Amino acid sequence: MFRTRLTELFGMRFPIIVGGMMWHSKAAFVAACARAGAMAFLTPKSHDSPDAFEADLVKCLELAQGAPVGVNFSISRFRSNEINDTCLAIAQRHGVTRFETAGSHPGEMIARIHDGGGVLIHKSTQLRHAVKAAQSGVDAIAIVGMEAGGHPGINPHPGHVILAQALKEIDVPIALGGGIGTGRQILGVLAQGGEAAVVVSRFLASTEIEAHPNYKARMVAAGMDSTVAVLHAIKDTWRVLDNETARRVQQMERELGEAARHADFGDMVSGRHGRDWAYIAGDVDRGLVSMSSAVAHADCEEPAGDIVAKLAREMEVAWEGLAGRHACAVSK
Ligand SMILES: Cc1cc2nc3c(=O)[nH]c(=O)nc-3n(C[C@H](O)[C@H](O)[C@H](O)COP(=O)(O)O)c2cc1C
Repeated sequence: MFRTRLTELFGMRFPIIVGGMMWHSKAAFVAACARAGAMAFLTPKSHDSPDAFEADLVKCLELAQGAPVGVNFSISRFRSNEINDTCLAIAQRHGVTRFETAGSHPGEMIARIHDGGGVLIHKSTQLRHAVKAAQSGVDAIAIVGMEAGGHPGINPHPGHVILAQALKEIDVPIALGGGIGTGRQILGVLAQGGEAAVVVSRFLASTEIEAHPNYKARMVAAGMDSTVAVLHAIKDTWRVLDNETARRVQQMERELGEAARHADFGDMVSGRHGRDWAYIAGDVDRGLVSMSSAVAHADCEEPAGDIVAKLAREMEVAWEGLAGRHACAVSK
């Protein structure tokens, strides 16, 4: 049920893409999503070295028991991307053929992935970048709107607005993400012409995510209004938990205005700082903590596979409800 060009291309059972999550998308979590029928991606930059990534990849492939798993490459405009080149070669050596890129244009990675018999979905927050990537030969596009967790870019539009326009300009299959946390919403993506949904923040309280119990508890307690977008002033918009650090960053943005520079915010905006304090030490007010309002649908800590199964069931129920309503409308 619910087969699309994207489910065929990536070989997952459900049109659900669990996009890469820095620090969280490791073997146990990615494999659990894969076994349950979603497409998930390891994040090499979550590891201290390519060797550590390789060890985690081997573990993931074992745990996935043959279900397809992928690798995500965040391509930075500001920092070296050397680790991506090394880790792409490692992934290909282990037979990985599904990839997700995000950030800057994937460039020569496209040919390398295709030469290795692989497929690539490029995630974009701007229509023009998505069009350019599609023209360059990526196999699929993921559009994420301003409501998405993590770095949704400076684009001001919700994802469904961008998708409607993207469908007119892009021929390859498109996935849509941002704020999606229920099966009904995934069905809505398909109805709008998307061929899968990118669902990430909904998984933040997954059992397999290695994080302090305080962090999981905060994710479960979070509601629709628990997120805020910071760092728009320096064009590095980041959607995060509305915590003490986010409020301090916002205060500084107001004070510094256009003069604000990345360095002004110091450690507060470093990913490692958030990992060390919020994820590992459990001081969830210290550091910026990526998430979107979709976390509101995570009302308990549970295995990632159960979340995938719930989303799939919700899709079916929504579909049956829609068909039922349609039948009523016709019979009247
Ligand atoms: C905790 C967290 C970490 C993320 N890290 C990455 C990352 O390393 N690479 C990436 O491409 N996207 C990353 N993202 C963005 C997601 O892959 C996805 O595009 C976005 O979260 C979708 O919106 P949603 O959170 O509303 O589901 C991250 C998102 C979250 C919540």
